[in-house]
Amino acid sequence: MDFKLTEEHIMIRDAARDFAKTELLPGVIERDEKQEFPKELVKKMGDLGFLGMMASPEYGGGGMDTISYILAMEELSKIDASASVMVSVNNSLVCWGLDTFGNEEQKKKYLSKLTTGEKLGAFCLSEPEAGSDATSQKTTAIDKGDHYVLNGTKNWITNGSSADYFLVIAQTDKEKKHKGINAFIVEKGWEGFEIGPKEQKLGIRGSDTHSLNFNDVKVPKENRIGEDGFGFKFAMKTLSGGRIGIAAQALGIASGAYELAKDYSKQRKAFGTEICNHQAIAFKLADMHTQIEAARHMVMRAAWDKDQGNNYDLSGAMAKLHASQTAMDVTVEAVQVHGGNGYVKEYHVERLMRDAKITQIYEGTSEIQKIVISRSILKD
Ligand code: CAA
Ligand code: FAD
Repeated sequence: MDFKLTEEHIMIRDAARDFAKTELLPGVIERDEKQEFPKELVKKMGDLGFLGMMASPEYGGGGMDTISYILAMEELSKIDASASVMVSVNNSLVCWGLDTFGNEEQKKKYLSKLTTGEKLGAFCLSEPEAGSDATSQKTTAIDKGDHYVLNGTKNWITNGSSADYFLVIAQTDKEKKHKGINAFIVEKGWEGFEIGPKEQKLGIRGSDTHSLNFNDVKVPKENRIGEDGFGFKFAMKTLSGGRIGIAAQALGIASGAYELAKDYSKQRKAFGTEICNHQAIAFKLADMHTQIEAARHMVMRAAWDKDQGNNYDLSGAMAKLHASQTAMDVTVEAVQVHGGNGYVKEYHVERLMRDAKITQIYEGTSEIQKIVISRSILKD
């Protein structure tokens, strides 16, 4: 593995860092409080190319590698994990899923608008009775010849109210279990498609999370992605890459908190000296840095595997497992280093601590990553 970043990588990382500092930082506390994310900011992210980074240029995408994407994810997440989850869902689940498995018409009609930020996407797998146990889909799509009729409820959907296009996973043939599942492109506003109230969350509060109800929604047959019965594999393959993005998000949250803690420890004085001169604080910083560097190597490795065409199910799951634990550990310690100031909003670390927790839950909980990892290592 070559760990040297190319000039292009550095340019992308710096552009994301600059955008995060100038555009995301100023309103981040207010967005967290109000649980909102202005449309203008989404548009700016689209204009700068952050919403379709890896997608094919012929459909408006940036044609970049996964390393570029994770560098941008880390920088955005250092400041605002609500912004980065939008970027993550749109890039690595929706755009990547359509680019890789959609047909020409679907790419022209949908992907080309999602890559530019003209439209935003959502990925809808989870249900009230099918979270970790994703094959237990209760949403049904019944084949009616030239269309399917979709019924059921999805929950916890990121971009639930702000998205325009939804990739919806549903059971088309119960007898066939996971082989009778399909994925569909559904548009906001179709008759029978209702968006539920916004969830009131602990963290990533700027990101809108909703349940969605489908009541006899007519979905044209041409909106099915891939061959009949491909939907579960579609979801799993797409999530394998998505998990690398969430690992990068966790890495960013951890690095953001670490940088704040390090700076603070060099300024704050107690017992006649800067607190970083107390070994208890210096050792915390040493532990944080070590854990973050290990996470960075694992995230890079998974992204590199994907770029090289290697299997990345295992490296992606390990990266997410480790980076999300790192995000939790580091943010808790960053609050501690800040003392009382760590407990109030203006110092940012309390928000990063709240944001960190979600990285152990979505795109497969840490327990699910251990299932993926253990099955993979035991198979060898
Ligand atoms: N790639 C391709 N195929 C895969 C696969 C992968 N990575 N993982 C599993 N499959 C296939 C299997 O090969 C199998 O197919 P065959 O029978 O043809 O071989 C089929 O899928 C079923 O696999 P399993 O028997 O392993 O299924 P399982 O019931 O044991 O579940 C699981 C496996 C890994 C636990 C899966 O259910 C899972 O990933 N659960 C977590 C769900 C999840 O991550 N949800 C995230 C929602 S999106 C989100 O959260 C977005 C966000 O927050 C921003
Ligand atoms: P459960 O599956 O009920 O799990 C409960 C607990 O049991 C967990 O600790 C879990 O790890 C453990 N557990 C379950 N099964 C096992 C097992 N076999 N072995 C060991 N432990 C196990 N989903 C989408 O489809 N799209 C989205 O955009 C999306 N965004 C989200 C945004 C937020 C803010 C949140 C909170 C969730 C989002 N999700 C989304 C859903 C998310 O992926 C699920 O919450 C997650 O997969 C866990 O499912 P669950 O909540 O049903 O928990």
